[in-house]
Amino acid sequence: MSARPIRILTGITTSGTPHLGNYVGAIRPALASAQSADAENFYFLADYHSLVKCGDPARVQRSTLEIAATWLACGLDVEKNWFYRQSDIPEIPELTWFLTCVAGKGLLNRAHAYKAAVDKNRMEGEDDDAGVTGGLFMYPVLMAADILIFNADKVPVGRDQVQHIEMARDFGQRFNHLYGEHFVLPEVVIDENVATLPGLDGRKMSKSYDNTIPLFTPAAELKKLIMGIVTDSRAPGEAKDTEGSALFQIYQAFATPEETAAMREAFAQGIGWGDAKRKLFERVEAEIAPMREKYQALIAKPADIEAILRDGATRLRARHATPRQIELRRAVGLRDLSQVAPVRAESGKRGAGAAVPAFKQYREADGKFYFKLVQDERVLLQSRGFDSPREAGQCVAAMKTGDLEGRGDDFMLGEGVDTEEVNRALAAFLEDALD
Ligand code: TRP
Repeated sequence: MSARPIRILTGITTSGTPHLGNYVGAIRPALASAQSADAENFYFLADYHSLVKCGDPARVQRSTLEIAATWLACGLDVEKNWFYRQSDIPEIPELTWFLTCVAGKGLLNRAHAYKAAVDKNRMEGEDDDAGVTGGLFMYPVLMAADILIFNADKVPVGRDQVQHIEMARDFGQRFNHLYGEHFVLPEVVIDENVATLPGLDGRKMSKSYDNTIPLFTPAAELKKLIMGIVTDSRAPGEAKDTEGSALFQIYQAFATPEETAAMREAFAQGIGWGDAKRKLFERVEAEIAPMREKYQALIAKPADIEAILRDGATRLRARHATPRQIELRRAVGLRDLSQVAPVRAESGKRGAGAAVPAFKQYREADGKFYFKLVQDERVLLQSRGFDSPREAGQCVAAMKTGDLEGRGDDFMLGEGVDTEEVNRALAAFLEDALD
């Protein structure tokens, strides 16, 4: 595979309301890196994943809307980044099945979430798999498909997700071993500088501890929640520890180093907890308020968000997902049968009057070399830019023989073109080769 911008992929499960911990730990760093890096970024709503834990349809829908609006309110640029909903990309569940068929069951047995469920059952004297669904068991395979379908190079996640990325590498490797080099093996990225935010009770802020501060809760409610953060019982005037203080840690996650130093000094000087909480509220509110306003405007127009997501998925499918699917289906042997027919039983499969498809190579003003597959003036496929005519020619030659190994990144579908048409056109070259 040739040089291309690195691909960074992040997914959020649509089973809850975004909270300050999600913002500080995932959303803010992801958007910051999108600004700085020369990368192709993929942000998506993992709604298939939400079905594993959440059996409440209204909640799944509400959460999808809230998380989508949150990304947008926080400044995600949908023109420069891929932004989509997992369930709008049917190539993902298909790849999930391909990977299921190479995934070792023994490896899946060792997945943390599954093992924790089994351990709990054993503790309680239940059958090992009591209450365990196939969905929980297969969760890592679906996640691997999310990543491998786009050949993502880097996946920034929390520590609890590291094992899933390792499994994605394992499944990808097994597939490559069997079928050829189709997948890039993704790397996990853990940002050491990103804080895990404590919640209201001092434990990690998490939906499962019910200790969260919703990101876009109204200002009055935000203030009330902040005033309820646990502290020790030291009185105003007594010096306070920053170490282990949830209040201080949250403040630090929003403040500049100077502001943090000033707060540290205030702690040493015995600032009262009430005053410290008011300062925390003001600091958080200063960062959140402008985004909250955008969020409210967005969430008032759910149809607009729906349109943004659909548009993202449509473009992403044509650009990446469908070409990959064509490559991968060929790889595993789900193929147009006419491509292996020893005798052409029936002629005119191209349809009466349909022109013979042709690859056309050309050079663009950017100095790169391209090809397209055209039929009847219709552009079925459009390649990426290659550095030399030779590379473009090699790709064309390989495609003509039906060898698409690793080629899913080299072409995209023309507007309004579907897989079927492409397969039929490619089959025409194979037929010619067989003649
Ligand atoms: N499992 C992830 C979580 O719970 C969400 C997720 C689904 C994801 N698919 C992904 C994250 C792919 C990164 C890449 O946080």
